[in-house]
Amino acid sequence: MDSVKTNTAGAPDGIGEASVNVNGVVTSGDQAVVSVFDHGFLYGDGVYETLRTYNRRPFLTDRHLARLRASAARLSLEVPPTDGELESRLRDTMRGVHPHGEVVLRILVTRGVGDLGYDPAVCRTPTVVIIARPHRASPEWVDRDGVRLVVASVLRNHPRSVDPVIKSNNLLNNVLAMQEAVRDGAYEALLLNHRGELAECSQSNVFVVRDGVVLTPPLDAGLLEGVTRNLLFEVGADIGVPVRDAVLRQSDLPAVDEMFITSTTREVVPVVLVGGQVIGSGGPGRVTARLLARLRERAHALTCGAD
Ligand code: PDD
Repeated sequence: MDSVKTNTAGAPDGIGEASVNVNGVVTSGDQAVVSVFDHGFLYGDGVYETLRTYNRRPFLTDRHLARLRASAARLSLEVPPTDGELESRLRDTMRGVHPHGEVVLRILVTRGVGDLGYDPAVCRTPTVVIIARPHRASPEWVDRDGVRLVVASVLRNHPRSVDPVIKSNNLLNNVLAMQEAVRDGAYEALLLNHRGELAECSQSNVFVVRDGVVLTPPLDAGLLEGVTRNLLFEVGADIGVPVRDAVLRQSDLPAVDEMFITSTTREVVPVVLVGGQVIGSGGPGRVTARLLARLRERAHALTCGAD
């Protein structure tokens, strides 16, 4: 694998800095192993969540764990550890990772190890993995200048296929869309649904601002119900900016004033171009900046207290 860049520990960049918890046992990222017979590896049969810390405390853990369980239920997959056990595994796994900085935590639950075949009964116990790695803040230019999206040619999964509401380990739809963005030098890929409406991006939800009102595609458009998306409704209410869901199309973009995307790790990122379409004034918008500032205030307020 000559093409894989390695760090001094011999693992690809970043992996050595991670800590990983496999079924309760913590090792460094380059030591962690899961069987090749795990149906997560074989079939993408599993679900996941990505959390981040503020003030080194996992943020909105209850919301992420509720979504993890809802995703798993859609696959008839059990999540055996209690929420309390998962929280204590999160703490164990992140201990020592990026000691003076923030951490990203990925929880994965897969069908577990079993013989080849799609019958879930061949797997006795789900595999529960937690990956903790340093959170890397976006480069400074992202907030300052805004980013460009491409509209992917691949459509977001139809809700009656692999429903995007499931935060599934089966991510090929997202990977294919993001490959188009990477090839085009764009920051993210915007996916349309089977009706040609805006759905979401490969790793984030999408919003526009029109006449002072913030709009985001409805859940019925086929998208992940982002924790940050939901938080944005609350953050908007805090600062007196209405946030609503609305069907959006590419043809609406020339008339919008601002656009942004949201996710746990990226927070709120201004979008200034979609393909060749300039958004609003061509720079990050004022409403976007206010929402980001308020979201950060809330995140700090909720994580800065004593234990
Ligand atoms: N991505 N839509 C998709 C397809 C996503 O993968 C994500 C999150 C979001 C935003 O959801 P949230 O606000 O709950 O992070 C929307 C995470 C960060 C990831 O894939 O790691």
